[in-house]
Amino acid sequence: MVNEERLPRHVAVVMDGNGRWAKKNGKNKLFGHEAGLKAMKAIVKRSSDLGIQYLTVYAFSTENWKRSKAEVSGIFHLLLKYLNLELDELHENNIVFKVIGDYKALPKNVVRALDHSFEKTKNNTGLQFIVAFNYGSRAEIVMAAQRLAREAENGTIEADAITESDFCERLYTSDIPDPDLVIRTSGEERLSNFLLWQAAYSEFVFTDVLWPDFSPEEYDRCLEIYGSRERRFGGR
Ligand code: IPE
Ligand code: IPE
Ligand code: MG
Repeated sequence: MVNEERLPRHVAVVMDGNGRWAKKNGKNKLFGHEAGLKAMKAIVKRSSDLGIQYLTVYAFSTENWKRSKAEVSGIFHLLLKYLNLELDELHENNIVFKVIGDYKALPKNVVRALDHSFEKTKNNTGLQFIVAFNYGSRAEIVMAAQRLAREAENGTIEADAITESDFCERLYTSDIPDPDLVIRTSGEERLSNFLLWQAAYSEFVFTDVLWPDFSPEEYDRCLEIYGSRERRFGGR
């Protein structure tokens, strides 16, 4: 049973294993991504039902551009399809939809659909559902450093006075608390350039389940593991 007293405020998920799931089932990769999208919908619903405040999912990394053109455009197409079919329901469920990453570099129709989704849901007060898309943590950190350097050049900030919170304010996640729990599926145990700064004190739960098979029950199990952890933040 999930202990509602010990729920994370922010869960971040590396949704990995779509390709292996497709292979295992004798299908092509995009079929795996489509199945992954279904799993994601169920986890958004479960997070919202449990009253979790922030859910961030890693859907497309800055390194994923190295994949075949067909796979990359297939993933963009799935994102568009998701927004077309699900945005109204997200809105009805009081969910705020956000993206972290360089989304402006995506094809114009994707940028338009995303901007529309942010605008529509921005005043909702329920779950914040954040999709990391064209996201890379190192690029994000460099972007924050460039912003601060520019401000120092302009004289609006003093280099020696820059604090950790000044830095946080210039990341994509400026208005999002650090993740309490990071889950990665498919048996891989690495961050792959996801939330390097923000996960400094996160708890990690790894599961062998491939993302398309990741059910609300398996999610609950990860949340239970989180609930049994003792967090110390270096203080004890
Ligand atoms: C994760 O599934 C989704 C994306 C990276 C877009 P993968 O496509 O990485 O699946 P595997 O790792 O090949 O099984
Ligand atoms: C991380 O998965 C990115 C996403 C889940 C979107 P990858 O499958 O791209 O990561 P690596 O290559 O196994 O490290
Ligand atoms: Mg993978």
